[in-house]
Amino acid sequence: MFKSATIAASILAASAALTTTAQAQDVKALAMEGKGVMMSFGKTLKGALVGAMKSGGPIKALHVCNVDAPVIADKISTKSGWTVARSSHKLRNSANTADAFTKAAIEDFLARQAKGEKPKTMIKTGIIEQGGKKSFRMVKAIGTKGVCLKCHGSAVKPEVLKKIKELYPDDKATGFKAGEMRGVFVLTKALN
Ligand code: HEC
Repeated sequence: MFKSATIAASILAASAALTTTAQAQDVKALAMEGKGVMMSFGKTLKGALVGAMKSGGPIKALHVCNVDAPVIADKISTKSGWTVARSSHKLRNSANTADAFTKAAIEDFLARQAKGEKPKTMIKTGIIEQGGKKSFRMVKAIGTKGVCLKCHGSAVKPEVLKKIKELYPDDKATGFKAGEMRGVFVLTKALN
């Protein structure tokens, strides 16, 4: 979704780009709005995942991540005017590759995690410019929960792993422990 090759994002620090109080308030409002969108994306996704795990186990739930997640993301994007996506330092799907801003946020989060901070509190916002257009960007860390380990942990069942490798030959998203940062939500809203 965020191919670093196709998008040369120039990063401006929010503080430098937004000098007036009015603009600072806009950023606050955008951040609030973005958090709401992020929560609804996270909740819908997790609900679909847990439901599928209960009714059909991880193989059925793979479909949720593989097929339903982008559909849920599109629906929420259309409804809210935000683009929602996910990325990670250890990708399963290379289509989720981070752009420059997101990559920098992930690196910052990993450094903070190494010092003992929990993913829950990690969030980064800023203004990015792509092709002359400015947008507001919000990146938030996603922690690894127990349910995630079935497909991202270090003891993924062989039949599940086989299916994952079929769908994603370059998968790097296993070996996570509960509590570790699994990846990030990436939200973008165009500024006029
Ligand atoms: C049933 C297996 C399964 C479970 C359980 C699962 N995932 Fe995934 N996850 C996947 C698949 C498949 C993808 C690739 C989705 C795609 O094609 O975009 C993925 C992709 C991701 C991504 C996007 C970045 C990337 O690597 O491509 C994140 C972030 C992520 N999962 C986090 C989680 C979290 C957090 C949980 C627990 C709440 C979780 N996953 C549970 C299978 C699973």
